[in-house]
Amino acid sequence: MRVHLCFLLVFSLFQAIQSSAIYIITASRPLVQNQTLVSPSQIFELGFFRPNGSGKQYVGIWYKNMTPSKVVWVANRDKPIGDTDQSATLIVGGDGNLKLLDGQQNTVWSTNVMAKPKYSAAVLSDFGNLVLQDGSANEMWQSFDEPTDTLLPTMKIRVNVKTGMKQHLISWKGEDDPSFGSFVLGGTLETPPQGFVWNGSSPYWRSGQWDKSKFIGIATMSGTYLSGYDLLQSIDQGTSYFSFYNYNNSFFGYIFISSEGSIKFVSWNNGWSTYWEAPAPTNHCDVYGTCGPFGVCDASSSTMCRCLKGFKPRSDQDWNRGNWTGGCHRETELNCQITASAAVSTPVEKDVFWQMKQMKLPDSADYLSSIADEEECQSWCLGNCSCLAFSYVDTIGCMVWSGDLTDIQKFSTAGEVLFIRLAAADTGIPTQTKLIISLSTISVITLFGAGISVWGLSRWRGKFRKMKIPRLLKSVDTANKSEELIAARKEQMNQEDAPELLVYDLDSIILATDKFNTKNKLGQGGFGPVYKGKLNDGKEIAAKRLSSHSGQGIAEFKNEILLISKLQHRNLVRLFGYCTEGEEKILVYEYSPNKSLDAFLFDSKEKAKLSWGTRFRIIQGVARGLLYLHRDSCLRVIHRDLKVSNILLDEKMNPKISDFGLARMFEGTQVLVNTHKVVGTLGYMSPEYAMGGIFSEKSDVYSFGVLMLEIISSKKNTSSDHLGQHLNLLTYAWQLWCEGRGLDLMDEAIADAFSPSEVIRCIELGLLCVQDYAADRPNMSAVVLMLSGQSDLPQPKQPTFTFQCSTTHKVQIQSKEETFLSRNTITITMVEGR
Ligand SMILES: *[C@@H]1O[C@H](CO)[C@@H](O)[C@H](O)[C@H]1NC(C)=O
Ligand SMILES: *[C@@H]1O[C@H](CO)[C@@H](O)[C@H](O)[C@H]1NC(C)=O
Ligand SMILES: *[C@@H]1O[C@H](CO)[C@@H](O)[C@H](O)[C@H]1NC(C)=O
Ligand SMILES: *[C@@H]1O[C@H](CO)[C@@H](O)[C@H](O)[C@H]1NC(C)=O
Ligand SMILES: *[C@@H]1O[C@H](CO)[C@@H](O)[C@H](O)[C@H]1NC(C)=O
Ligand SMILES: *[C@@H]1O[C@H](CO)[C@@H](O)[C@H](O)[C@H]1NC(C)=O
Repeated sequence: MRVHLCFLLVFSLFQAIQSSAIYIITASRPLVQNQTLVSPSQIFELGFFRPNGSGKQYVGIWYKNMTPSKVVWVANRDKPIGDTDQSATLIVGGDGNLKLLDGQQNTVWSTNVMAKPKYSAAVLSDFGNLVLQDGSANEMWQSFDEPTDTLLPTMKIRVNVKTGMKQHLISWKGEDDPSFGSFVLGGTLETPPQGFVWNGSSPYWRSGQWDKSKFIGIATMSGTYLSGYDLLQSIDQGTSYFSFYNYNNSFFGYIFISSEGSIKFVSWNNGWSTYWEAPAPTNHCDVYGTCGPFGVCDASSSTMCRCLKGFKPRSDQDWNRGNWTGGCHRETELNCQITASAAVSTPVEKDVFWQMKQMKLPDSADYLSSIADEEECQSWCLGNCSCLAFSYVDTIGCMVWSGDLTDIQKFSTAGEVLFIRLAAADTGIPTQTKLIISLSTISVITLFGAGISVWGLSRWRGKFRKMKIPRLLKSVDTANKSEELIAARKEQMNQEDAPELLVYDLDSIILATDKFNTKNKLGQGGFGPVYKGKLNDGKEIAAKRLSSHSGQGIAEFKNEILLISKLQHRNLVRLFGYCTEGEEKILVYEYSPNKSLDAFLFDSKEKAKLSWGTRFRIIQGVARGLLYLHRDSCLRVIHRDLKVSNILLDEKMNPKISDFGLARMFEGTQVLVNTHKVVGTLGYMSPEYAMGGIFSEKSDVYSFGVLMLEIISSKKNTSSDHLGQHLNLLTYAWQLWCEGRGLDLMDEAIADAFSPSEVIRCIELGLLCVQDYAADRPNMSAVVLMLSGQSDLPQPKQPTFTFQCSTTHKVQIQSKEETFLSRNTITITMVEGR
């Protein structure tokens, strides 16, 4: 994003002079009432403002050229200055703090930090951040740390359980009154975290649990996977933060909490438009706890609230009058409670679980991090009488509930599966069937309790399921069909190919790789070195030895591995199994005899072996593999480090993407070593990712574009060796394409016949993928269509630091000095980011 800002700067600096705008506030240059402080590219403006009819003055920040203007930050929200005060100033005081002084020189507001007085100055950044800096431009205070009611792109709301620091957005009192209103937007410190709006101290809206890429309680969020939101939680440090990146429409947008308590996501598109709002004005179910404890809210149903299966309204009278807040209570006592009260000597039937699909899961879950699959989650819950419900969400893990189940919603799309504990009598299923169900659950528990490693059992259990479940299902078939019981869920799990993961012991890996001998080293991936190995049975493997300092617990590690192993596609490297012993965490993959693409592409002798036909097949294969990761797989993974050396080639030169899922594993919500770490490789990182660390599927598309151009040209994007002085591969490709000389980009070593239109198509598509704005880039399904020629290509937009491509295909080169300088700046930033 900064890329754009630098560029804008060049053109906009000139206009600034004649207005009353200033760019810096210092001790000697205060901001007076008829002036404004503007950001370098004139995007944001800070100054005095009078809300309509309030008769009061405030100092605030707003988008400069977008009307109606929206004030995104206010300094003195609870201490306004009188309407008639003409001589208030914003000034850097003798102690180095930025201060708002009224006409009588009283301090109305101050940054109030331990500042270094010398050369202290305040400036406004193009992100809308007011920064107080010292003589060496070190930040001493920033307005992003003291948000009011608005979250801007790149801004973060944080919580820290250890220091007790909690950032919130607090609404204005009224549309024209910036003082503190009653609505508060913030996050919780639970795991997984949730977003909340509180009205005073009572919850008003809840986002549902964060699953590392989205809030599962917001049905609309599931379609826009990683569309620019990010929430990172570090359990070790006790911190988490939420931020967003408005990739739809550059960076002109904001999220805010209105004085009526609605969160609004607003974006600029020739006018401000709200494109998401919560609680949704038309959906009463969005308001927290509308149906009370054990009630389910269903906006699509004529009676909005109903009780959970096995529950009935606490007060039929209230309920029938449409007062649902009292909620529901249980009809039949749970069998485990009866057993616990001891007096009963005859054996009682086990409780059962009732399955509900497409649910917003209840509030106040307990997260069991040590449990790694659904059956274990179920048996834990069954074994603890205070456990009233459970849910196993692949992307989170096992959650259980013990108190009142509140704020449950039934969605018509998306949502999760929730299992409610019921007394067997409440299911309405003939006793015999119930008996079978409970017997099967018992047998699972007994087997688990036998002290055998659950992990070693996983493959065996797969077979067990195949043998036993069908018989069980038949009996359920005869019973209630409206909502399925857990047995049906088992069938579902059975249908998915249960991953057949092997667990290797460390000794066999050490033996296979000759003690991780360097002569067996195949390469160095982002997460550790890879070694070739030959197992005892002669099978060749590639063993990735993960850098151990990931801080990830064994259980989470195994959980992730299981998930990754479910990703199976012919253009993805296959995972055979893993090994964890002590500090060692090793992933065992299939071995690719032709090593990786870079061994061919960037080798002067080998590259001639890659005909155009082969290259085109590789491009197509990678595109399909990526599409699978983004869209078709059960997990929807963003690779984050797609590059030539991560494309492996099998004996038939079919491409196989490697290292997928690892970024997710290392950067997931659960444990985050370093929140500022940007995984990725210089040259492949999209601008928004490199600059802000914010990623989306479109960041992968960018890397894919770079990869395509590299495959076509056999040139590295990061090296300018063959490209003339000031160019990288992207600008070089752009220049050639502009000049109508696209074919010149092709590697001269390609000797075979090729279709020029196919090559040109690939170049154009590559350029489409590396466009600056993520929103302009196609998604992978469009890429696959365009590659196959089934879809037309739009005109790519010019990358920032390149030549102007006029419609007549003439090239105007901007000052080369400037281009060079700018590239340099970017490079430095990227290195920092890494
Ligand atoms: C702004 O205010 C200053 C003093 O308050 C005054 O000298 C100056 O003329 C004013 N400028 C404009 C454009 O009103
Ligand atoms: C200002 O307030 C007046 C009356 O209170 C109203 O008619 C007008 O539309 C308001 N203007 C804006 C910009 O809100
Ligand atoms: C917020 O709380 C106040 C006081 O408790 C109440 O009067 C008001 O109706 C609530 N607002 C909403 C939107 O629920
Ligand atoms: C992007 O913005 C346009 C216009 O504001 C809107 O129609 C479209 O749905 C948005 N796309 C996404 C993915 O939000
Ligand atoms: C709704 O019911 C609850 C008790 O269940 C009661 O406290 C409350 O006053 C009722 N509200 C209305 C508006 O009747
Ligand atoms: C049963 O669950 C409750 C609530 O989740 C928990 O506090 C308790 O420790 C659990 N008991 C056992 C034996 O795990």
